[in-house]
Amino acid sequence: MTIAILGGYGAVGAAAARRLAARAASPLRIGGRTLRSAAALCEELGDGATAHTVDLSDSASVAAFCAGSTVVLNCAGPSYRVLDTVALAAREAGAHYVDVAGDLPLLRRLRALPPSDRLEVVSAGVMPGLTAILPLTLLGDDPATTRIDLHVGGPVRITPASAQDILLATGPDFGTPSATWRDGRVAPGTATARWHTTLPHFGPDVHALPYLTTETADIARHHGLGEVRQHSVYVSERIPTTLATAWADSPDDPTSWAGELAAAATADLAQHRPSYTILAERRDIPSGRLVGQRLLQADDPYRLSGLVAALTAEAALAHGGSGTWPAWRFLDAHETWSALTSDPQCRTEVRATSAAPL
Ligand SMILES: NC(=O)c1ccc[n+]([C@@H]2O[C@H](COP(=O)([O-])OP(=O)(O)OC[C@H]3O[C@@H](n4cnc5c(N)ncnc54)[C@H](OP(=O)(O)O)[C@@H]3O)[C@@H](O)[C@H]2O)c1
Repeated sequence: MTIAILGGYGAVGAAAARRLAARAASPLRIGGRTLRSAAALCEELGDGATAHTVDLSDSASVAAFCAGSTVVLNCAGPSYRVLDTVALAAREAGAHYVDVAGDLPLLRRLRALPPSDRLEVVSAGVMPGLTAILPLTLLGDDPATTRIDLHVGGPVRITPASAQDILLATGPDFGTPSATWRDGRVAPGTATARWHTTLPHFGPDVHALPYLTTETADIARHHGLGEVRQHSVYVSERIPTTLATAWADSPDDPTSWAGELAAAATADLAQHRPSYTILAERRDIPSGRLVGQRLLQADDPYRLSGLVAALTAEAALAHGGSGTWPAWRFLDAHETWSALTSDPQCRTEVRATSAAPL
């Protein structure tokens, strides 16, 4: 029952590995190009963890890493370049596959193939991942009169692989700027940016930029939600300005801006302590009355993504299954929320109902 974690000593992979090792779920394989880093983590994890040299550009090394494992967890990136490289090796090895990212580009590729008799779960991270699961815990009996408001962001570091993925995540596969979900469809141009605003739980003088992700649109479509508004929240203009500049300057390959993007995040952290927030609120249509809220805060979204990835790998081991799914279709939303509330890195808050119309 081995779990093989590719990118297993990166920011997300190491967090997933530590969680899985602490729960003694299975023997772990830790893989990446730098054997020294894999070995250092294995020493920390203790018995049962083994270090492996794996390079995504060497298909034989990826195949050897996956062979004989029960679950392959891919935390190597950039995910939108890795695409199905690891997933196909996991299929070949007869292993379940979990990807902390991958998202629609990977989902589409895997669903174009003959169905797998093993599980393939993508987007098992924070965003996408928890950004769908938190709203799902709020749904009641009448989705048509439900409005979900989602605010996500805060000052946090940006790792090398994540910087490249953030830059590559542009276009209709990822989301629509200035859009909301209403009348059963993505409605472009229906949301406006709020610059220099004050948001509860995010603080004063933040920027809330409307961006409806394809994941959020998918849960809205799947559950027949009346309306969904989604905003990415930034503590300065540095990151949105760097992204806009990169996309305008290098539309074909913006990854050359990864260093600048990471530096923008570092500059934000010189003025703010690290904090990542997901605030999901449910309101009635048409009154706008707040009827439920889930708040999740953590210092490090990579550790949080590692937790979600580990929960997904644990569920795949425990229950098995087949088919290709985004994590929000595979994980039980309430069980996941419960795991978050009992994890020491998470600060969570629930408001069930409020009598006061907002
Ligand atoms: N869904 C979410 O919310 C979410 C959140 C955070 C991150 N992510 C995604 O998760 C992935 C990992 O992010 P991270 O922040 O953990 O990145 P990271 O800290 O930069 O770690 C990347 C890992 O992948 C390995 N790697 C890179 N290139 C490789 C290659 N060619 N062959 C084998 N291994 C390779 C790296 O080791 P070596 O360089 O030594 O090989 C390292 O272990 C990214 O795709 C990121 O976008 C998703």
